[in-house]
Amino acid sequence: MSATDEPISSERHIKPLFRERDRQSMRWAFDLWSHDDVAGNAADILARLREGTMPCDGTWSDEQIAVLSRLGRRRKARLKAWPISPEREERT
Ligand code: HEM
Repeated sequence: MSATDEPISSERHIKPLFRERDRQSMRWAFDLWSHDDVAGNAADILARLREGTMPCDGTWSDEQIAVLSRLGRRRKARLKAWPISPEREERT
């Protein structure tokens, strides 16, 4: 899978990046299998992955990090194109 020429799908690209153990360990903060949770926390998650401080039992490859950073950028672009109204933001 090239990180540059395929649209990002949460099911196909994001969920497989996170082990069940990652998800269980981080449920106290967010759900690593939820598109909105990962996209919404992408900056903090990416910072930890780039630092290599998370996951605490092994670092991610640059390719894996590139896929996740594309998700963050895509969400920003989408929000810019169609900003979420405050009322809807409360509901999501
Ligand atoms: C904002 C980003 C993150 C923060 C602030 C964060 C913070 C933490 C903290 C405080 C713990 C508990 C450490 C302990 O019990 O000693 C933890 C555990 C863990 N986190 Fe994260 N984490 C982040 C992202 C991630 C990501 C993206 C992954 C996986 C890709 C991950 C995987 C894990 C795992 C597997 C553990 C369990 C460690 C163990 O029990 O040995 N975390 N994290």
